[in-house]
Amino acid sequence: MDRQSQIEFILDHFENPRNHGKLDGADVVSDGGNPGCGDIVTIYLKVDDDDRVRQVTFEGQGCTISQAAASLVTEMVAGQPLDAVLDLSYDAIIDELGREVVMSRPRCATLALGTVKAAVASYKKGEHTAKTEV
Ligand code: FES
Repeated sequence: MDRQSQIEFILDHFENPRNHGKLDGADVVSDGGNPGCGDIVTIYLKVDDDDRVRQVTFEGQGCTISQAAASLVTEMVAGQPLDAVLDLSYDAIIDELGREVVMSRPRCATLALGTVKAAVASYKKGEHTAKTEV
């Protein structure tokens, strides 16, 4: 995708967020924050018996990139094994969003993925909440 298409892709996720909202009965809820700006993403996760992401939603407040990335991350991790979520690289989300566009804003681009990883790590430890900062 060229730069303009990547910007439109990000704006579409921001304006029409996928999997947005609270998830009742979530197995784990994870709050992620960027202390530099105060932006936040909350991830709700339900996990299947075979340790796959059954359902994932998010809420948040923040810049266009952080919230678009959260929408994109929910699409990327839905149905995935938990270990695959932990293995997902920060480069993968940056590439999906458009490296050229988000390169100068790595914290914004990776806030949601870090929050999802924290959710999975907590779930594996038998915890139901997580808190992380990027
Ligand atoms: Fe705060 Fe982007 S400016 S996460």
